[in-house]
Amino acid sequence: MATVSKNGKRKLVINPVTRVEGHGKVTIHMDEAGKVEQARFHIIEFRGFERFIQGRFYWEAPVVVQRLCGICPVSHHLCASKAMDVIVGAEGKIPPPAEKMRRLMHYGQTLQSHALHFFHLASPDLLFGFDSPVEKRNVLGVIAAYPEVGKKAVLMRKYGQEVIKATSGKKIHGTSSIPGGMNKNLSIEERDFLLKDADTMIEWSVEGLELCKKVVKDNMDFLLAFGSFDSNHVSIVREDGCLDLYDGSLRAKDAEGNLIFDQVKPEDYLDYLREEVRPWSYMKFPYIKSLGKEKGWYRVGPLARINNCDFIDSPLAEKERQEFMALGGGKPINSTMAYHWARMIETLHSAEKIKELLNDPDLQGNDLVATGRRRERGVAWLEAPRGTLFHHYEVNPETDQIVLANLIVSTTNNNEAMNRAVQVIAKQHLEGKTDITEGLLNHIEVGIRAYDPCLSCATHALGQMRLQVQLVGADGTILDEKYHG
Ligand code: MG
Ligand code: NI
Repeated sequence: MATVSKNGKRKLVINPVTRVEGHGKVTIHMDEAGKVEQARFHIIEFRGFERFIQGRFYWEAPVVVQRLCGICPVSHHLCASKAMDVIVGAEGKIPPPAEKMRRLMHYGQTLQSHALHFFHLASPDLLFGFDSPVEKRNVLGVIAAYPEVGKKAVLMRKYGQEVIKATSGKKIHGTSSIPGGMNKNLSIEERDFLLKDADTMIEWSVEGLELCKKVVKDNMDFLLAFGSFDSNHVSIVREDGCLDLYDGSLRAKDAEGNLIFDQVKPEDYLDYLREEVRPWSYMKFPYIKSLGKEKGWYRVGPLARINNCDFIDSPLAEKERQEFMALGGGKPINSTMAYHWARMIETLHSAEKIKELLNDPDLQGNDLVATGRRRERGVAWLEAPRGTLFHHYEVNPETDQIVLANLIVSTTNNNEAMNRAVQVIAKQHLEGKTDITEGLLNHIEVGIRAYDPCLSCATHALGQMRLQVQLVGADGTILDEKYHG
């Protein structure tokens, strides 16, 4: 498959990388000796969403921002609402029925997104091996080999979508979350419909987690080393250090678990984080300001969240967190493939929280909206399935129009980490090889896939995109290429 250029240098390109949400490109430059010179994860398309939203009325934002991404609309719907809570002076005053409805929506989304990722996108590699035949290495292969797993995967995703529909008013592009609260509560009928399967979802989440743990434990040394590197970790935690996917303050830890910052409030995010622009990528590179561009990059998402929090407030997930953290003796786990394990702990946590919320009579409450003193600047964040999501708006108080928007999406926060994963895996698995097989190329994709990137979100592009891997010679010629779609 791979060829060697005239001068012996090679460049490998994977385009598009499959089973990720979106479209990006990987290029790997190799020198005459077959050593990896440079490996990059690029983003190809760009749509200026932050400019597009300027001039819109602030109350339109929670609905309009869902056009950012067809995969993560709930995260943007809720994060924009939270930023607009600040604009209307309702921050910290959202009535419990409204806040709990939003949380239920968010856990529904996390459950369906994580279940989709693990069973549909990640499990083919984990169950069959990274080099297994490509025709088997997909969700149909999983359903054929493990019919029970396949069936439950589909139903878990469907359940998450039902939770989203009941809370947001629609299966996609909901309209229920508004500046200051919600415009609907949960009816008794909706509650009972969801409650009847709540225990089953917990049970299946446990089974999914056990399957994930078994696969990891069977190949522990290989998987924990695969695409592994030390990094800082950034996530939201509740005031008491508890895992909280919906709200809290920002915490950063280094690879050893030392605190870099803690208890940071959304309005102060620019004092702690910065974004670097690099000419070869449309996706920016965020970093922790105090550490600088070289050392300040970090990881977000399930791994960072489980590493950063002090405990989880749902019993089954907390037990699993303790087992997971014991792997590193209580210090952060810095393995790329540990994302899958951490993601399944959060799946279980989401299922537990859904049941807890459904049993809370506040969800049938009618106190749904708060207001207060208007403000011109609203910043909010939440933990989207893929990691911390930031929305920042400035609103003209005279015209009610948005004059500035800055978004940092989860996948952008993981940009440098995904680049590192590609570099490490290229060095670990492609270096010195003269024949680059499809299975070897898939190793690169496996590393990117662990971060569950949403390239649609990251580039603010419309719809789903795909990914490409290219092997490039020293003279710039493309020597081998892989397209997936
Ligand atoms: Mg931005
Ligand atoms: Ni997205």
